Amino acid sequence: MVSGSTRYSEYLQLDGLLNLQKPLSAQAGQAAHEEMLFIVVHQTHELWFKQVHHELDSVLSIFSKKGKVDERDMGSALMRMNRMVEIFRLLIGHLRVLQTMAPLDFLEFRDFLVPASGFQSVQFRLLELKLGVLTKEKMCPMSTYMSVLNSPESAQVNAQADNPSLHHWVCKWLERAPFLDSKGFDFWTEYRKAVRGRLEDDRVALEESLSFSEEVKKRQLLEWTKNEEHFEALFDEGKHEKLRREGDRSLSLRATQAALFIHLYRDQPLLQLPYQFLNQLVELDEAIQNWRSEHANMVHRMIGVKVGTGGSMGYPYLKSTLSRTRVFGDLCNLSTFLIPRTHLPKLPSDFARNLSFFVDALGH
Ligand code: HEM
Repeated sequence: MVSGSTRYSEYLQLDGLLNLQKPLSAQAGQAAHEEMLFIVVHQTHELWFKQVHHELDSVLSIFSKKGKVDERDMGSALMRMNRMVEIFRLLIGHLRVLQTMAPLDFLEFRDFLVPASGFQSVQFRLLELKLGVLTKEKMCPMSTYMSVLNSPESAQVNAQADNPSLHHWVCKWLERAPFLDSKGFDFWTEYRKAVRGRLEDDRVALEESLSFSEEVKKRQLLEWTKNEEHFEALFDEGKHEKLRREGDRSLSLRATQAALFIHLYRDQPLLQLPYQFLNQLVELDEAIQNWRSEHANMVHRMIGVKVGTGGSMGYPYLKSTLSRTRVFGDLCNLSTFLIPRTHLPKLPSDFARNLSFFVDALGH
């Protein structure tokens, strides 16, 4: 081991770091004990956001390489995705520590920090842009998001808004999937037949069911019809685009088909990593949603339905973000159209071999 003279406190810049907590209540001569916790929990969040950006930037650079994603990078991308998921799970724990502060104690110092708010967290907005939650249109200069930022902050956010998001790059990656253009094997006709058969069985079972009232049956049949329409959209560009415009889909048709194929045939060796990656996208989406939900509930508990220090409606605003901030919801919707392995169209042996790791000495 090389022995050097680096000291722990110097390496970690602890002198600086541990002097960054400056409660405003103490400066005003009305020291509120809980303010230290409030600052530390916010600062640790920002540090972890920094780490999330470090991981996300690397995943973005893997997926934005010209032409193709180098399969050797997939393992690293997966590990980094998983790390981001774990960070957001950890941050929920940070919020729980903050909830050891009573609402009445928060009032001891809340007025000192107005109009500061997590609403002004640039790292959080950049994260939303990089993932694809937010778009350039939503970040227009007139938006509430932008009105709370100062000019260097909005310049940073605007610059990011011009770059494609992870959602964009994942869509492009899926669209390039070579197995969608298989010659001599019409997978989609076979699959459509198999799923239609199961959908039909479901409909008959529902109509003949003795356990549901006529009212319940009617409602369920309506849902069935909607599912059938969504299923048919898997084979029809026009129908798919309509769902996209209505906000029911976000990936392109080709990307959706590739993601579905990966889900259905995830046992094939070459599809295992892509499957795990798609799974991690859903995990990250969920981990962030869970953080949002924990944060919204905490806010409700702390300030009831008062408006936020950042000028939003407070809890009602935060609750509304829960339903519209999922980026990879399409990947969850695919489960509607999964069928048991025993009913899946069998892949021709040539085709299956191309999805396998094992190539013999002649490359066959
Ligand atoms: C007592 C604790 C907290 C309260 C009462 C609170 C309250 C609020 C409120 C009311 C909003 C809506 C915007 C506004 O009008 O201000 C908000 C947004 C936000 N807060 Fe908190 N917050 C707390 C803790 C935290 C912590 C620890 C973080 C960690 C960084 C955080 C990060 C955020 C973020 C990122 C937003 C923007 C969310 C979005 O626009 O989707 N908050 N907070």
